[in-house]
Formats: sequence, structure tokens, C-alpha cells
Amino acid sequence: MDTKQLLEWSDKHLMTTAKRNPIALVRGEGVRVWDSDGVEYLDFTGGIAVTALGHSHPRVVGTMREQAATLLHVSNLFHIPQQVHLAKLLCERSFADRVFFSNSGAEANETAIKLARKWAKEHGASDRGDIITMRGGFHGRTLATVTATAQEKYHHGFEPLPGGFKYVPFNDLRAVERAIDSRTAAVLVEPIQGEGGVNVPDDDYLPGLRKLCDEAGILLALDEIQTGMGRTGKLWAYEHTGVAPDIMTLAKALANGVPIGATLATEDVASVFTPGTHGSTFGGNSFATAVGLTVLTTLLEERLPERAAAAGRHLLDRLAAVQKKHSAVATAVRGRGLLAAMDLATPVGNVVSGCRERGLLVLTAGDNALRLAPPLIVDNATIDRAVEIVDRVLQDCRP
Ligand SMILES: Cc1ncc(COP(=O)(O)O)c(C=O)c1O
Repeated sequence: MDTKQLLEWSDKHLMTTAKRNPIALVRGEGVRVWDSDGVEYLDFTGGIAVTALGHSHPRVVGTMREQAATLLHVSNLFHIPQQVHLAKLLCERSFADRVFFSNSGAEANETAIKLARKWAKEHGASDRGDIITMRGGFHGRTLATVTATAQEKYHHGFEPLPGGFKYVPFNDLRAVERAIDSRTAAVLVEPIQGEGGVNVPDDDYLPGLRKLCDEAGILLALDEIQTGMGRTGKLWAYEHTGVAPDIMTLAKALANGVPIGATLATEDVASVFTPGTHGSTFGGNSFATAVGLTVLTTLLEERLPERAAAAGRHLLDRLAAVQKKHSAVATAVRGRGLLAAMDLATPVGNVVSGCRERGLLVLTAGDNALRLAPPLIVDNATIDRAVEIVDRVLQDCRP
């Protein structure tokens, strides 16, 4: 189909919630994708940190074919073997004892919020329900999760917002300490803020939050929707910190692009959900969890978190060299594993377009940062090619 016509129909018939790149992607393989005119790109967006195994991974494709031809969906009125196996593997590889499956990151966080509130009510006073979240964080677009997202730009026009959320600055333990009171149920935080700008907190931040939560008898919920599944160089970002949460949410890379969400919790916390308290028609269906199981198994067998740690060091080194070279337009580089950002003193939109025109797809984050989140299978030579493109684009930029 004619690309121009397709983009016109897109403009005309889709609700304009996203600022889209003016290309239509039709095929992918590994780190590469092709548009409808046959142009090839390096995909350093990873579908916004989703396609950890890259595009069209043979094991993922194999599972999808097989499961689609066997059984797609039956509902949670029945036991679903793939769901059980995925939950078991997630629990064996994390702090958690139990899992609830849903269909997206926002739903995984909705579940975490409901779980934390119910736990707090059963373990304290009936008015305990407040969730403390961090400024600059991102937790989703449903009404509760957009309210948990402490960024007013996402709230405008959607009021009245649900109550029960308190915001504090990120990476500020004193502020959390001051905010905790008798109504607090939990602290919900990303180990590294992804959408907010790839903000990496101090090493003592998560341990400090853990301590504050323990002292107050409240829950620590980690949103690992972007940082989980090996992206930061460990399977879960909390593994860098020496402490574990009570609740963790996953989505994005868990099934490499097949919609899925998961809320993991300890036995004590999970026990407040009883039959009928929460649910999802599609959540954890045979297809999504079969793919999730293949993705997690492959990720572990191929030691992709370790690979992401090494490749991430290479990426950050190379980006730091480019930033130094163009320090008038690129002011800082940060990240962990294969989640990296570069602050720009030139409009990030121009850099995104410049990269795309030279064959590299990239993301933005925060106010004016470039964000890179390539598949975890990316090799150093491909990283070098991508960073060379960023280098050339910055060369042409004015501060
Ligand atoms: C940390 C984090 N939490 C939650 C979400 C929301 O996930 P979804 O878009 O699947 O609802 C995102 C999406 O970017 C995210 O990065």
C-alpha cells in the first residue's frame, strides 16, 4: 500500500494520542526493522523497552505459531498450564511467591495499588490506603495509574482524579520519611525512572526506602515494567541494591511484544486476594503466558541480563565520548545496562528526526533527553553504528 495514503488515513481515523514518526514499520528481524518503503533502520527504541529478544526471534515465533494453533484463550475459570509454569519460574527467579497476570503495565500497577490497599486495611486501620509516589515517575494511563504518575502534564483535563496518592521528590529519603503517616499503605517507585528521563537514584535510595517501609509497617512496591527482564544488567533492577520489594510489577519485555502484565508479591501480601476480589478476562491467557514463558526461559538460558550489562557499559562509554565531543549540545549521559539517556541542549525532536533520516530509531525521555533502549541481543558493532549516527546528527545541531 502507498505509504503517503496510509499516513493520511492514520491522521484521519486514529485518535491522535501519540506523536508518531512519519514512517510505517512492516517487518523486523533482530535489531533491524523495515518501513513500508523498504528502508532499513536500527531499532534502538525496542518498541519502548519491549522487544528484549529482538524482532522475530525464532523461539518466540515458534511458540506463537504452536500455541495459536493449539489453544489461545480459555479464561481464568480454568487452570492454564502455561500461566502456572510462567508464575513458577517468575517466583523461582525473584523475591515473590505468587503472581497475578494482566494485559499491560498500567493494569499491573492497578493490581499493585489494589493489593497494597487491601493488605494495608487488613493489617492496620480501615483508612489506610494512601500510596506515596515520586515526582517524575511514570506508572501508566488508567485513572489510578496516571494519578500515581506524579507529573501534572499527564493529568490535565482528566480531573477529577482518584484520591489517595501523595507525591514526593525522587531520590529524597527525607521527603518520604516526612510523607509517611498513619494513612500510608505503600511506597510505589521505579528503581530507575524510565519515561521521566532515565533517572538513576543514589545507591542507598532503595535500601533506604526498604528501611523506611519496614519501620512504618507499610509495603514497598517496585514498578519494574521498564527496568525488569534484564534491561539494567540484572534480571530485576532491585538486584543491584541488596534489598527486595513486597510487590513488583512487570509488563513490556515479559512477552517480547505480546500484551501481558504481571504483579508479583510475597505470600503475606498476595494472601489478601481471595476468589472474586480481582480479575481479568484476558489476563494470563494461554497464548500470552506461553510466549512469556519462552521469553523468560530464553533470556535466562542466553544469559541476556549479563550480556545487557556488558553491552550497556559499551553503550554508555561510547555515548559519554560523543557527549564530550559535542558538550555544547549534549550535556550529560546516564543509564544502567541497556537503558541509556543523553540530555540535550538542542530540541530532542530534531535529533530523533535526524537519527531516523540516517537509519536509527530512538526514543525521548524526560524534558529533553534522548533515550536508547535497544534489544538485549544487540552487539557492540551495532552499538557503534548507532552511536556514530548520533555523533553525526549532533555534529549538525546548534545549542
Ligand atoms: C515504568 C512504567 N510503568 C508503567 C508503564 C505503563 O505500561 P503500559 O503502557 O503497558 O500500560 C510504563 C510504560 O511506559 C512504564 O515505563
